[in-house]
Amino acid sequence: MTIRPLDPQSEAEIELVARRMRATLMEVVGAARGEAMYSLDWLQDRVRFHLDPARSTAAVYLAVRPDGAIAGHTIVRIEEEEGRAPFGLFSTTYVAAEHRRQGIATALLEQGEAWMRAQGLDESATYTARDNVPLIEHYRRHGYVLTPANEEMVRLTRRL
Ligand SMILES: CC(C)(COP(=O)(O)OP(=O)(O)OC[C@H]1O[C@@H](n2cnc3c(N)ncnc32)[C@H](O)[C@@H]1OP(=O)(O)O)[C@@H](O)C(=O)NCCC(=O)NCCS
Repeated sequence: MTIRPLDPQSEAEIELVARRMRATLMEVVGAARGEAMYSLDWLQDRVRFHLDPARSTAAVYLAVRPDGAIAGHTIVRIEEEEGRAPFGLFSTTYVAAEHRRQGIATALLEQGEAWMRAQGLDESATYTARDNVPLIEHYRRHGYVLTPANEEMVRLTRRL
């Protein structure tokens, strides 16, 4: 398994990550609602947003198997919220169902945190739905602390 940045020249990689962002939503909020939330064009632009230094300070990492298959991805960026110092945000993480429980999300997390440290950030965070047990357990296992964000979402944070 190799973790590498997405190739910004590769339309196929951008589309794959956009499709998996949609798959994530379908898994987390339900198939019908998740599919209807954003068009594929919007999601592809969202990937490009994270690849364009004029629009964000971010990185998109892929987990690539020895046979070339892309097993998962994560997107990290510098986030600013009122009343907080800038922090590193895991915007999204996804591992294809057939490759789960093999430590791929863990490898993506470590790469994302290394990127955040290289940006001089001292806090990492992510948001997810309150009932997203696999993701919450994944972050907790890596030392993240959970706080409620609103009625539907939780925030998971860790000092880097
Ligand atoms: C959450 C997700 C990224 C985990 O990916 P993964 O590669 O299977 O995770 P890892 O193998 O690195 O697991 C790390 C730890 O996370 C926890 N974990 C992962 N899946 C879990 C599950 N289904 N139930 C409980 N804990 C789980 C475990 O503590 C695990 O360690 P262990 O296998 O030694 O017990 C994956 O299930 C996924 O893509 N889910 C759908 C997408 C999603 O919800 N994204 C976030 C949207 S905000």
